[in-house]
Amino acid sequence: MKYITLSILSAFTIISLGLIGKKEAKYVGVLDENQSVVSVLELLGEQNPNKPNLSIPGATVENGKSIVLEGFSHTVNGSRLRKQSKHFVCTSCHNIKREDPDLAIADPDARLPYVVERNLPFLQGTTFAGIVNRTKFYNGDYYKKYGDLVNKTRNNIREAIQLCAVACSQGRELDDWEIESILAYFWTLEWKMSDLDLSDEDYRTIKAALEMGGQQEKRQAVTLIKSKYLDYSPATFIAPPDNRREGNKLKGEPSRGKQIYELSCLHCHEDGRYSFFVLDNSGYSFRFLDKHFPRYTRYSPYQVIRWGTSPATGKKAYMPHYTKEKMSRQQIEDLRAYVHEMARGGAEQ
Ligand code: HEC
Ligand code: HEC
Repeated sequence: MKYITLSILSAFTIISLGLIGKKEAKYVGVLDENQSVVSVLELLGEQNPNKPNLSIPGATVENGKSIVLEGFSHTVNGSRLRKQSKHFVCTSCHNIKREDPDLAIADPDARLPYVVERNLPFLQGTTFAGIVNRTKFYNGDYYKKYGDLVNKTRNNIREAIQLCAVACSQGRELDDWEIESILAYFWTLEWKMSDLDLSDEDYRTIKAALEMGGQQEKRQAVTLIKSKYLDYSPATFIAPPDNRREGNKLKGEPSRGKQIYELSCLHCHEDGRYSFFVLDNSGYSFRFLDKHFPRYTRYSPYQVIRWGTSPATGKKAYMPHYTKEKMSRQQIEDLRAYVHEMARGGAEQ
């Protein structure tokens, strides 16, 4: 017993010595770069509305993860439950990793090189990384697509999950325990202080507010932290160019177009992964798209990128559109330039 107490004591001393030794390093013990942003905000008096309720039977991180990544969850004895959607999994349209270099800006031109470097897809939905740090959902123009349905999702992450499961994923409604599971999994993807672009000066300000700040300093620290990430994902709908022959009148860069083709279009269309409409690296695919770019048909990339396609009875898989924040006009011209180049012989025939 004595021995155990002693070893606990000495372990404790070693840990505390370690901490003292590290005192030179930044903010150990008070404000750590690995700390979750939410936990720091809580210390500053700011509550987060997205906490999961794990007291519901069956609600676990593991179940949430398998619904999001594979489309089904497991019962306690390990058997698979009915798939949420026959057509998609959540990651057909959403990343689970960080996708923006600066979390305070939603800019597709900055996002593309960032996802290219990490070999992540370039998608219509916003990443689930940091989603629990958001407080508003289906923002901006999404009411134009889903009408009144977005009202209850605007301040409620559970309703947002449910709407997407049914309307985006074209699947069955989720049970409460499945929603709580997804939420619990989302919490494993929350932002850490090191994800934010905070200067040493910023850290000192926050640390001072935490240690001895009054209400005002704490409010300021909250504002400072929140200025470093978006707590909502902005969405602006735009139309295809009026004149599809002329397009967006920007000179396209084929090397960027290739990245878009591979990280966006092929993510869903290669081997008919999420779509019956198959695209690949054959001359046939490129000539087909090249031919349809200037046309006013449902095969024109201008049209499907900006308007998407609609789910139809008997063919529920549809293509979600790209908002201005998800694909820029320049990027569409980059894609067109690449498709055109490949159609004229750049591709293997
Ligand atoms: C077919 C594509 C698609 C699938 C599949 C899909 N989503 Fe979405 N989801 C979207 C799009 C597009 C949005 C629009 C808003 C955004 O993410 O920026 C969205 C929005 C959301 C939002 C609100 C995000 C915000 O910040 O406004 C949540 C939450 C969400 N989806 C959860 C899910 C979950 C959970 C699944 C799987 C059960 C899923 N989605 C499957 C395309 C999809
Ligand atoms: C999130 C998945 C996803 C992404 C990303 C995606 N698509 Fe689609 N796309 C679909 C689905 C699903 C359909 C519905 C058609 C079907 O399944 O038959 C579709 C339909 C289309 C159609 C119309 C086909 C028809 O039969 O009407 C075209 C053209 C198209 N996509 C081109 C593209 C291009 C170009 C890109 C890249 C910029 C792209 N898609 C990115 C999922 C996607």
